[in-house]
Amino acid sequence: MVKPDSVFKTFSLFLNDMLGDKYTEALDKAYQILKESPKEKLRKMVGRKIKEIPEFPQLDKRGFVESYQKPIEDDILAGYGLFKITESRMLQMDWTGGHYQLPLGYHFRNLDRILVTAREHGIIDDTHNNTPGQAVKLLAFELIKSANKYDGEVDINKLKQVIDAKDRLNRVTSVDTGTVASGAALKSILYRFRNLHKDNIPVFIMQEGNYHGTDFFQQYLRGMWQWMFTNVIVEAVKPNDIDHLNQTFQKYQNGGKEKVAAVIMEPVLMNNRAIYLKPEYIYRAKELAEKHDAVMMLDEIQTGFWSPDIFMANELKGVADIIAVGKGLTSGFSPLAYMICKKYLDNQDQYSSISTNGNADMAALAGLVVLYSIRENSSHIQKTGEYYMECLQDLQQKHPKKITGITGCRHLAGINIVNENMAKKFHQGCLDQGIFLRLQTYKAGACTIITKPAVIADADDVDFVIKKLNAVLDIIS
Ligand SMILES: Cc1ncc(COP(=O)(O)O)c(C=O)c1O
Repeated sequence: MVKPDSVFKTFSLFLNDMLGDKYTEALDKAYQILKESPKEKLRKMVGRKIKEIPEFPQLDKRGFVESYQKPIEDDILAGYGLFKITESRMLQMDWTGGHYQLPLGYHFRNLDRILVTAREHGIIDDTHNNTPGQAVKLLAFELIKSANKYDGEVDINKLKQVIDAKDRLNRVTSVDTGTVASGAALKSILYRFRNLHKDNIPVFIMQEGNYHGTDFFQQYLRGMWQWMFTNVIVEAVKPNDIDHLNQTFQKYQNGGKEKVAAVIMEPVLMNNRAIYLKPEYIYRAKELAEKHDAVMMLDEIQTGFWSPDIFMANELKGVADIIAVGKGLTSGFSPLAYMICKKYLDNQDQYSSISTNGNADMAALAGLVVLYSIRENSSHIQKTGEYYMECLQDLQQKHPKKITGITGCRHLAGINIVNENMAKKFHQGCLDQGIFLRLQTYKAGACTIITKPAVIADADDVDFVIKKLNAVLDIIS
């Protein structure tokens, strides 16, 4: 046997060698402009091409799957706070919280600082998921505290009671993305159903236009893969229609083979026109779920970390038996999502919802910074969110022929446009003005601009954006 004398090579690797000199130069300049210019100055520059940033060769996306090959002008070069600069060097105000997932905007100073310090202290990025570090364990408790603050803040003493209680959200499992978190919650619902009603067929009561992720079962719940699943019934009810909800539950009340397993709701249907589900509707669903011995699940992947109470489940007086959270949790640092459930739904085996990267210390630390920041800014989030909604209502009153309605709650708002043609013009007009928004036209009949500004936005940011939207609405026809 010949013992090799080779050692693993280390070498100097620099960012510009990897990404290109020209790109790195442009990136540095863009980031410097964003970081060093006062907010008022940046607002004035929104919608303009920043010529001081050198041009650089842009990569195309031919290597991406076709469904993802969108035009390149909008791709990001740099971001800071609410602002970003695209590869075509245009300065934009990102009014979507970077794909609805950055409650603290880009490069939130405290978050960056803590992560750099943590690295200097040697906190690890990730480890085996059976050996979590301090940050991961702390985040589990902080999430439980956050999910139980609807009847008062949870201090260390109350936490002990909450952890032991039968009827509290007091168990978490960490996974990578929202899809996996909602999948984990669905599995717990199915495990429970199988244990209690193994001869029955589970019925899932969903909202029309629901979206809970991209895995098979979540997609089945919104009408796909019909040929693949048998023995599961899906009922899609009309959002906020209490009669329809009553009738749907009624269908299954006579003890037939089919039995309701769960009612699943997103407090704001961000994938269906940002429809806000009214509390009385959600309370009725809970009542019916209890009557049918079914589970009440809230998908808070969109709403979580954008509420003054962290989760909308708190605003709904702790109505949920199980919640899925993700997206905003690390404000974009890395994927991290959780299923948070009551003890009786803690029913899975070790390998049922395991995830390789579910116990990453650095990501958990980012999650702790987000929780802390939201808690500290509860009243700011409430006030700015409500002000934004009022401004949108006002905008609709100014343009009743173009805007048919404002949907949503606080930052999670939908601007519903009269028809697709007008919506496209409005959307393009906003982009030309440097306001980055997304248009939802892929749902039948929906022409909705879905907005979700980062919670760092203040009333001046709101005024600025509303003024721009108004100017676009004035000129389109
Ligand atoms: C309500 C809701 N649930 C689940 C998901 C899936 O989350 P992810 O994309 O992180 O897998 C999303 C994603 O947009 C969502 O909006």
